[in-house]
Amino acid sequence: MLEVDQVRAGYGAINVLWDVSLKAEAGKLTTIIGPNGAGKTTLLRAIMGLVPVTAGEIRLNGQRLNGTPTWEMANHGIAMIPEGRLVFRDMSVEENLIMGAFHKSHRPHVKRRLEEAYEMFPRLRERRAQLAGSLSGGEAQMLAMARGLMSNPRLLIIDEPSLGLAPLVVNELFEILVRLKGTGRTIVLVEQNTARAIGVADQVNLVQSGKVALTQAAAKIDLEELHALYFGR
Ligand SMILES: Nc1ncnc2c1ncn2[C@@H]1O[C@H](COP(=O)(O)OP(=O)(O)OP(=O)(O)O)[C@@H](O)[C@H]1O
Ligand SMILES: [Mg+2]
Repeated sequence: MLEVDQVRAGYGAINVLWDVSLKAEAGKLTTIIGPNGAGKTTLLRAIMGLVPVTAGEIRLNGQRLNGTPTWEMANHGIAMIPEGRLVFRDMSVEENLIMGAFHKSHRPHVKRRLEEAYEMFPRLRERRAQLAGSLSGGEAQMLAMARGLMSNPRLLIIDEPSLGLAPLVVNELFEILVRLKGTGRTIVLVEQNTARAIGVADQVNLVQSGKVALTQAAAKIDLEELHALYFGR
């Protein structure tokens, strides 16, 4: 289980997160929704050690995570698939995937992990030699997801995977999220597509202005109530 406990974080003198607390239970999908600029990405960056946590604690299975360098996160079984799908454009699909297993401890498993990635994302197999920069938006997102899986993470943190994608591709993406959930992984999903996120989630957290405004089981969410809260009505 991942626990975020009273966390403050931001950029230099600008604080963004104000005592944020939430939990992501093992094997469950926890979604973080909220408007632009609410601090969703900042929260994920704080978990990954990409922005300094100035107060509070982040724990993984009871073990303190703050202060752990980002490059060590793979050793703790954590992988993040960042917003904007940041693939290496001048590298092939397969080279991008191999980069996802860069850590020494993962290298012996590269062949098997590649096979698993191609099984889950057959289109990437067809395009294994193609430059990542020439992939469609949907394919690039699939590549970013597959690359994140190359370290076989137990905790997968995904930031806005559906952003800018066509509805059919979004469907495909959410099907993959359901399959990933089925593999027993813990997933933290940031999404602007609230309805879709709630559809796939176990637990929902609404973040607004750097604070958690609502935490609720997905099954208990009343969309109308949520939207009223979301838009401050
Ligand atoms: N590198 C940075 N330096 C300074 N401020 C930043 C930086 N990155 C983000 N911010 C600010 O932090 C706040 C939260 O941004 P963040 O990216 O976490 O929001 P978000 O909820 O992910 O939004 P979106 O839905 O648009 O992705 C915003 O006010 C943003 O301008
Ligand atoms: Mg963001």
